[in-house]
Amino acid sequence: MKEIRFDFNNMFSFSIGGAQGVKKEELSALSGIISHAHKHLRKIISDKHKRINLSLEWVNLPFQAKETIRQIQKLGAGIAKKYKNVLFLGIGGSYLGLLAAQDALSPCYYNEFSILRKGRPRVYFEGNNLDPDTLSVLLKNLNPRKTFVVVISKSGETTETKAAFCIVEPWLKKAVGKNYGRQIIAITDPVTGALRRKVDAEQARDSLSFRSLPLLKGVGGRFSEFNMGLLHLAIIGVSIQEVLTGAASMYKRCSNPDVFKNPAYLYAALQVILYQKKRKPITIIMPFSETLKSTADWYAQLLAESLGKKYSRKISLSKDGVETWKNDLTKIVNVGRTPVAARGTNDLHSIQQNNIEGENNKATTFIRIEKFKDDLMIPAANDILSLRQYSQLLNLAQEATEWALVREKRPNCTVILPEVSPYYWGALLFFFEMATAFEGELLNINAFDQPGVEGYKNYMYFKLQKKGLSEKIAEEIKTKPLVKKTKFIL
Ligand code: PA5
Repeated sequence: MKEIRFDFNNMFSFSIGGAQGVKKEELSALSGIISHAHKHLRKIISDKHKRINLSLEWVNLPFQAKETIRQIQKLGAGIAKKYKNVLFLGIGGSYLGLLAAQDALSPCYYNEFSILRKGRPRVYFEGNNLDPDTLSVLLKNLNPRKTFVVVISKSGETTETKAAFCIVEPWLKKAVGKNYGRQIIAITDPVTGALRRKVDAEQARDSLSFRSLPLLKGVGGRFSEFNMGLLHLAIIGVSIQEVLTGAASMYKRCSNPDVFKNPAYLYAALQVILYQKKRKPITIIMPFSETLKSTADWYAQLLAESLGKKYSRKISLSKDGVETWKNDLTKIVNVGRTPVAARGTNDLHSIQQNNIEGENNKATTFIRIEKFKDDLMIPAANDILSLRQYSQLLNLAQEATEWALVREKRPNCTVILPEVSPYYWGALLFFFEMATAFEGELLNINAFDQPGVEGYKNYMYFKLQKKGLSEKIAEEIKTKPLVKKTKFIL
């Protein structure tokens, strides 16, 4: 079987010169840090307690028990058979992986044509914004009796998801009656959070109501597609096993200590050098594929939330060898590449102008697909496009974009997928997850928290008078409000 290939040529100085590209000696200089990062990660990965405590349990998700997978696949198939629509509520890591899977692994225009759905339900995503327009239109037009709701929130406290559920729950109840909870599954923390409390209370009344799939300990939201996303895969009829087998194959490749045999390590190391030594703080992720656009969005979140950090990491070891990570408040680093999710060829008529001629501060990651599900041949005519396959043109455009970037000495690399299948998609996601974790090690930051997201939440909670908000934060919001000079409001 063919595997995903990674072409890193255009990140090196021999392609784009030493001022913009990575020199061999710059990579060699990192070998000590790479080897240390590898040993540190392997030490954590090989120990279940460490994996859970340090939020690396996601590395084990490709190896879930066959029986667990069989049950989720069966549950999803049952829902798919019975309902016309499934409405998923969730945001961030509780949403982007599902959307990526939906777009990559189900046929394009899945919702529009029943022949493509093969009797499966239409799929909708809500609770990922507070914009009232989408949810209100959707609920006015969906039949609640034919709609199944999957609410996903690890914390069970996230405002966007909570607000959507506050609207969706009575909408369902009103139409379906007292057993409406049988049309809901909640994917949430097994112990804590408001959603968990709701599930437990409803389950105590009726065990078929508010059924729940637990999120595993030590798996953070954006690293959890192979946990919280499985029911969605089952509902749209994707083989969970194939996705996980792809991820497992990438796990193997990304466990190799040799940086030249480990794509995640080489990707992370080159990105770190480009970022720190060649002033490339912006990362463009550009699949040449419409169906992988949401996968690019998923990666943008993974990169931004994992690696965009204020503080350096301080590792402590207790006497009995328990490792803990804290933010080193004495070391402000403000690191992190800024992701931009784009897609070819669409964005060649948009941000590509800036990529080529704007500031040379970006590194591009292309995703190229060798074989498409449904190719098209342009009819014979007196034209250069005559008898060309669409896929041939698309991949030519990708090659041409590479050439144009290299010409301007702009670093880029290409991830080559034999095709967009569950296997390769699972492998692709796992590659990015491992690369992100490894980059976190190289940068010595905690890639598995997202404290920066708390700022806006705290402000909202303060204004909404949520109980339990820290007094320090409340005081800060009171004493340092937003400054709004009327003369600057035109
Ligand atoms: O990666 C993360 O942890 C976040 O993006 C979360 O997934 C997001 O904030 C949603 O959180 P929750 O699942 O608790 O509602």
